[in-house]
Amino acid sequence: MAGEKQRLLSGAQPSGKAHIGNYLGALRQWATLSQTHESMFMVADYHTLTSLRRAAQLKENIYDLAADFIAVGIDPEKSIIFKQSDVPEHTELAWIFNCLVSVSFLMQAHAYKDKVAKGLEANAGLFDYPMLMAADILLYDADIVPVGQDQRQHVEYAREAASKFNLAFGATFKMPQEYILEEVAVVPGTDGQKMSKSYGNTVPLFGTDDEIRTAVLNIVTDSTPVGEPLNPETDTTFALHRHFSAEQLSDLEKRYREGTIGYKESKELLADNIIALIAPMREKRDALTQDDIRKILQTGGERARERASQKMEDVRKKVGVTL
Ligand code: ADP
Ligand code: TRP
Repeated sequence: MAGEKQRLLSGAQPSGKAHIGNYLGALRQWATLSQTHESMFMVADYHTLTSLRRAAQLKENIYDLAADFIAVGIDPEKSIIFKQSDVPEHTELAWIFNCLVSVSFLMQAHAYKDKVAKGLEANAGLFDYPMLMAADILLYDADIVPVGQDQRQHVEYAREAASKFNLAFGATFKMPQEYILEEVAVVPGTDGQKMSKSYGNTVPLFGTDDEIRTAVLNIVTDSTPVGEPLNPETDTTFALHRHFSAEQLSDLEKRYREGTIGYKESKELLADNIIALIAPMREKRDALTQDDIRKILQTGGERARERASQKMEDVRKKVGVTL
């Protein structure tokens, strides 16, 4: 509708310490978009239960992730920050979607296929992951879902769940659209593969200066000696400079091609630039207590639940369980 803000919803799993790939691929856009959209950001704790069975760890991760949201600039006064498990309508709606999609359709999900291919245990929760995510998005009539490239398929699954429901029970859910920044689609990790908590190749977003430096110095390179030209196209350190060293980039590229910079110097510069960018966010994060975070999540949970319960009332009527 003209004049109305678009609705945005996104989320991340509290599955470990956030890394700079999460920041560039997701968190940074969320903070920017939250200024122009009616926004909700969710800690997807029930999704993490598909892979984590240590309660104390999960709890710590939830605090950490909510603090990350605030530290990167999402304002809890303007956006709703909440956790999935505080709104039971998510799991309720996921069940209804389960009854609408086929097993063979869910079997095509990348997250599930990857685990099976690696011979890992694929529990029923992992199999069903896309339907819980569809519920997260559709409950709030989100227009856009900003995520990294690897989540594109999940948003497609949400659209499919919406169409199946609308077809069976009448127009109820809006079609959400993913929002992906192509230039940061995949941030490489220290081994050159996609940076991911599950590959142990991350540069932590809110690590100490030393942790950041150590991770950066560990970036894998070839063995070109100092003084020889380096290839900026294939070097992982240079790929990261693109995100953190904008002003020095053309000079760096020249020095790479001329052979007037070695990997070590390039990495040290990168670590300095990452630390400089993160420092103010880290300060904000350090100022938050667990109590602050709990309050923010509680208020957010109440606001989210108000919306979700209205939507579910309509859904229950449509499927025929309300008498
Ligand atoms: P991880 O792979 O480390 O477990 P998540 O799956 O929790 O990361 O991702 C959280 C968000 O960060 C998602 O929106 C995801 O697309 C984005 N993201 C994760 N890794 C990267 C990366 N290497 N490059 C760009 N975006 C990423
Ligand atoms: N699957 C997402 C990830 O691993 C997290 C997530 C759960 C999510 N529910 C969501 C993202 C809803 C966007 C919208 O990153």
